[in-house]
Amino acid sequence: MNENIIKIDNLKVYFPIRRGIFLQTFGYIKAIDGINIEINKNQDISVVGESGSGKTTLGKSMVGLIKPTGGKILYNFNGKTFDMSKQLPIDVRQSIQMIFQDPFSSLNPRLKIIDTLKEPLEIRKLFRSKKEMIDYLGELLEKVGLKREHLYRYPHEFSGGQRQRISIVRAISMKPNVIVLDEPTSSLDVSVQSQVLNLLQDIKKEYNLTYVFITHNISVAKYMGQKIIVMYLGKIVEINDADKLIEKPFHPYTQLLLSTVVEIKSEHAEKEVKIGEPPSPVNIPSGCRFRTRCPFAMEICAKKDPPLSDHEGSLVACHLYSNQKKEISVNNS
Ligand SMILES: Nc1ncnc2c1ncn2[C@@H]1O[C@H](COP(=O)(O)OP(=O)(O)OP(=O)(O)O)[C@@H](O)[C@H]1O
Ligand SMILES: [Mg+2]
Repeated sequence: MNENIIKIDNLKVYFPIRRGIFLQTFGYIKAIDGINIEINKNQDISVVGESGSGKTTLGKSMVGLIKPTGGKILYNFNGKTFDMSKQLPIDVRQSIQMIFQDPFSSLNPRLKIIDTLKEPLEIRKLFRSKKEMIDYLGELLEKVGLKREHLYRYPHEFSGGQRQRISIVRAISMKPNVIVLDEPTSSLDVSVQSQVLNLLQDIKKEYNLTYVFITHNISVAKYMGQKIIVMYLGKIVEINDADKLIEKPFHPYTQLLLSTVVEIKSEHAEKEVKIGEPPSPVNIPSGCRFRTRCPFAMEICAKKDPPLSDHEGSLVACHLYSNQKKEISVNNS
């Protein structure tokens, strides 16, 4: 059954740029600039894009850590719909968790692991006794390949991979339905990365979780998600099933991301997409925001922002595949 668990409706997150002694607003960084996503229960989504494309901002908005400038994030918890920008009951808030890139950020260096882990559980009063709670946390630590006695150690006594395992315990201890994972393995050694990814896959199945997996690595995106969302400067440029997107990327930006890892099969692949630098999110180009780096840019690309539309089963925001392009070539012929 295709039950919607998260529905993002025209989300915008703008950060004001303030300067001067009175901190006047000089403009806005448009970190998220109007995006729509529907996530079904147990349908894992990967979000890919270069640095600054708005992935973390999207993730934090999903778990309610950032309030949207516009639009809504609706979350379906046990059949009831909640607006993530509002004050939520504790069980609803804890049912959508986030794991961060740097496992230090979720572990207080001054607290023993037990003290970090018990805090959110005590708020919920889920256990009849302290012993019951400690047993529960010890079991979870064993599940992620650590030991019960690790509860009484401090974060600095663990390696990066072990700390990330503790962050995973912290997230799953609250019995969530959804976990947003923001580059959870990119700070780890390559050899440890795949172990943690495999652990995350096992945990997902065991706890019936829905993952939103944020990464800049399209191969990791494919491994972790059934669907891939490609973001560029605060907008979605392409969405498709992971294997189809990798097999046949349509958007020139998706081709660019893929060109570093696989050979691209595309009708437009004969022109190489240059890596280059993304423009500043303060001065976003008119029309299509990718046009300044796009080898296929046409006149219309500077004038009109291409909407996401269906092309051979993929949702692509590019004039190469839109009706306008077809109209132009008919007029020119
Ligand atoms: N709190 C903030 N205040 C001002 N600007 C911000 C804030 N958070 C993010 N930004 C800006 O918003 C844009 C998107 O940032 P975000 O961190 O979401 O990107 P990202 O895709 O996660 O990048 P990375 O891959 O480097 O983690 C960037 O230009 C960033 O500088
Ligand atoms: Mg980020």
